[in-house]
Amino acid sequence: MSLFTVPLTLALPAAAAGLAYLNAKSAFWYDWTLFRGVVPAFATNKWREYIDKANAFYKLETRAKSGASADRIFLMYEDNTWTYAQSYDTALRYGNWLKRRYNLKKGDVVAIDMMNSDHFVLLCFGLWSIGVKPAFINYNLTGKALTHCIEAAKAVLMLVDPQVQHNVDDSTRATLGDLQIDILTADLIAEILSTDPVRAPDSDRSGDLGRDMAVLIYTSGTTGLPKAAIVSWSKLTLAGTFVGGWLGTKPSDIFYTCMPIYHSSATVMGLSHVLESGSTFAIGRKFSTKTFWKEARAFKATQIQYVGETCRYLLAAPPQIDPATGENLDKKHNIRLAFGNGLRPDVWERFRERFGIENISEFYGATEGFLATWNTSKNDHTIGAIGRNGWLYAILMKQRMAIIDVDHDTDKPIRDPKTGLGRQVPRGQVGELMFMLPDDMDKDFQGYYNNKEATNSKIVRDLLRKGDGYFRSGDLVSWDNEGRMYFHDRIGDTFRWKSENVATTEVSQTIGMHPSVQEANVYGVELPNHDGRAGCAALALQVEPDEKVMQSIAEHAKKALPKYAVPIFLRVVKDMSTQTTGTNKQQKHQLRAQGVDPAKIGNDDIYWLKGDTYVKFGPRDWDSLNGGRVKL
Ligand SMILES: *[C@@H]1O[C@H](CO)[C@@H](O)[C@H](O)[C@H]1NC(C)=O
Ligand SMILES: *[C@@H]1O[C@H](CO)[C@@H](O)[C@H](O)[C@H]1NC(C)=O
Ligand SMILES: *[C@@H]1O[C@H](CO)[C@@H](O)[C@H](O)[C@H]1NC(C)=O
Repeated sequence: MSLFTVPLTLALPAAAAGLAYLNAKSAFWYDWTLFRGVVPAFATNKWREYIDKANAFYKLETRAKSGASADRIFLMYEDNTWTYAQSYDTALRYGNWLKRRYNLKKGDVVAIDMMNSDHFVLLCFGLWSIGVKPAFINYNLTGKALTHCIEAAKAVLMLVDPQVQHNVDDSTRATLGDLQIDILTADLIAEILSTDPVRAPDSDRSGDLGRDMAVLIYTSGTTGLPKAAIVSWSKLTLAGTFVGGWLGTKPSDIFYTCMPIYHSSATVMGLSHVLESGSTFAIGRKFSTKTFWKEARAFKATQIQYVGETCRYLLAAPPQIDPATGENLDKKHNIRLAFGNGLRPDVWERFRERFGIENISEFYGATEGFLATWNTSKNDHTIGAIGRNGWLYAILMKQRMAIIDVDHDTDKPIRDPKTGLGRQVPRGQVGELMFMLPDDMDKDFQGYYNNKEATNSKIVRDLLRKGDGYFRSGDLVSWDNEGRMYFHDRIGDTFRWKSENVATTEVSQTIGMHPSVQEANVYGVELPNHDGRAGCAALALQVEPDEKVMQSIAEHAKKALPKYAVPIFLRVVKDMSTQTTGTNKQQKHQLRAQGVDPAKIGNDDIYWLKGDTYVKFGPRDWDSLNGGRVKL
């Protein structure tokens, strides 16, 4: 589920409902915390629309003009710091320069193809200051994917980071025809900084409603080209205000992220949250286990952001040692909170202990989902729970979301042959989490930009009664009698083997607990002459895969998993980074497509389960499968 595709007016109450475990004893107090986040968020959002100041530029302006915050630091990057007042002043220079040089008009879209930096953010506010909207491009894109993103945005200009300009090659330029492309060099930046800080008139920004576009952000779907998703002003305001309220962010907090700004985690959960709480946004160029703690320490960060397997990679890296004193620096930081999504139960506790980070706030969801947990690892029985709601919210939420029975072969809701309606699963059983859409859903639901088809594929109609509409989260969850919600898997990732449903996240979490396994990515592969899909675990190992290790992994898997869920194949991956996204999230589609055909797996090795251990699987074994001589 991604933040920008879920209508936020729905997602926020959902977030709230899932908001976890602050106080297990008192569900009421828990409800209160969630209202503390939600009520101001909605009020702020409505108010800004009413006074015609939906644009986030106004929030920066207010901070810059207020004596309390003008001199507070808003941005940190490498050795640069920008106070709120300086950032505002620079945004005006950017705006003036952009308007004069490119003759940009209100409503134009400008593509930003840049790595993380302070100027990424300043440019963004510069565009907003003149009523122009940015489209954030993944700077690693090349060729068709890149041109597709620019064309989908109908951008009139693209600004490119010098460090990634090689991706915008001659053939890309030729495809884009007369699109203006400029490299944002140091010289150009110097020119911008010496432009007059002229504030564009309010008329350049007026008329935008909350639902109107603030920025385009692309989702890297599992198949096909990236889709442009509209992030509206409301989403920035609501998410930013809500997250700040929920985390208890104070103006003195310093939020460090090296997650890519082109992605919504860093922008919506990070930048917008910082702006709304008046705190500091400390930016890392990109994720690296070598620079992460160094930067977090240098910036004196109090909050850090993680996505996907980030914490796992940090945990796998050796401790940093002070060269002078020999001191282990793992716990030497000011971090009071790690915030993000995708932290797996198998690393949660180890991460917390090794780095001495007491509080972890996990947002649920495949992208920026919106149910949250707090400190769940404190109680073992809630490991993996994504949310818990108090009675008050439970009543409200019943009408807003539903857990729907789906067919794992077609991934569609199961419908009653007579009535044509779908059904909710009983408590305790697994189904897809769906959010009810408002009646005027076509107006309020922004979905994907210029892509009605993709938007509609996320919506089911006539589900529980004629005329209703639900947004599909794509997440398989269950809800127990105590109000805890558990995430099981992404829909489409769960596969069938021997007529049983295998949830890939559950298998990868189990395999990931084995001491020799650094990371496991589990998926189902199609085999010749077999029904369903056989489980395969792509592994990054911490040791060489000798006989002993293989046997021990087999033993571990057999002990911890039901028979049908024990992976039949292991793929020992040489370089796991080719199977993850820019936000350290695992990808499965390529692995799944390659399957276990030895001709398709490059330099990796495949093993398969034989008796009590995993042994090498080679071309001859593949031939036997093809010839129908082996039955699994
Ligand atoms: C993305 O681009 C950056 C900058 O050029 C580079 O350092 C990084 O390795 C690239 N990542 C991938 C996955 O290609
Ligand atoms: C963890 O969060 C709680 C609640 O916000 C806070 O009181 C506490 O100080 C935090 N822990 C640390 C180590 O900062
Ligand atoms: C989080 O867990 C730690 C240790 O398990 C505890 O000291 C702290 O109070 C908890 N914070 C909250 C907000 O529950």
